[in-house]
Amino acid sequence: MDVELFSINAVNPNGRKKRVLLGCTGSVATIKVGLLVSQAIAESCIGNAEPSIEVRIVATDNAEHFIVHEDLPKDSKIYTDSDEWNSWSSREDPILHIELVKWADIFVIAPLDANTLAKLAQGLCDNLLTCVARAWNFDKPLLFCPAMNTRMWEHPVTAPHVATLTSWGYKEIPCVEKRLACGDVGMGAMAEVDDIIRHVFASLESVSCDEGSDEPCRLDEFDSSGSSDSYFTDSDSENLQNSET
Ligand SMILES: Cc1cc2nc3c(=O)[nH]c(=O)nc-3n(C[C@H](O)[C@H](O)[C@H](O)COP(=O)(O)O)c2cc1C
Repeated sequence: MDVELFSINAVNPNGRKKRVLLGCTGSVATIKVGLLVSQAIAESCIGNAEPSIEVRIVATDNAEHFIVHEDLPKDSKIYTDSDEWNSWSSREDPILHIELVKWADIFVIAPLDANTLAKLAQGLCDNLLTCVARAWNFDKPLLFCPAMNTRMWEHPVTAPHVATLTSWGYKEIPCVEKRLACGDVGMGAMAEVDDIIRHVFASLESVSCDEGSDEPCRLDEFDSSGSSDSYFTDSDSENLQNSET
């Protein structure tokens, strides 16, 4: 497939960068996230002076063990569960997972580990990433890249979980066979970065971000408030109890 073709087509004619929300889970394949983001941004520049995509990352707490921050572009934004809770103290505050859904043009979960795959298939939403998925707008593409040890991949529960996600219209970027981090050889490795980027750019082609079509979104407000600066206090908790639901 011609990468340049997809890069050019990923550009929005109306000027706004296409917004890629990348979800990472506690798979060792998360070590490739820096490469995935840097390469996708670089490829989106082909034929343009500026990147035509903007990438933000949602990481589970376990994904954080694997993120190699030095590999990521300097100003990368990574949102975690603590951002979700530290940024919210009263009902006027933006709710991070909802603002991320409104902000994004596409949600790519790469890698999707066995645990989060199972949660998504059951509709569970106990962290920022799964809340984004549960609140996802089905008019926009959601891509997922399973990544797990072969034994996990071959467990009988895996195929029905994947089938559930694809039955909802989520697009699977299938895992591949190779030598895994644990030394075993078999199915379960995350798709190659090149393949993931091709799929993402192809899906972005169908995304329209015409002027006026964006949902109002308060993510910038969240970013400028500095999430780590706001914490729950006793009085916040009191205000909350006294407020209407
Ligand atoms: C070093 C290490 C590597 C792991 N790699 C994987 C993996 O590739 N795929 C997977 O499904 N689970 C993997 N796990 C297990 C997950 O991290 C574990 O199920 C975790 O609870 C997932 O949490 P999360 O889905 O909230 O990110 C690994 C665990 C460790 C300690």
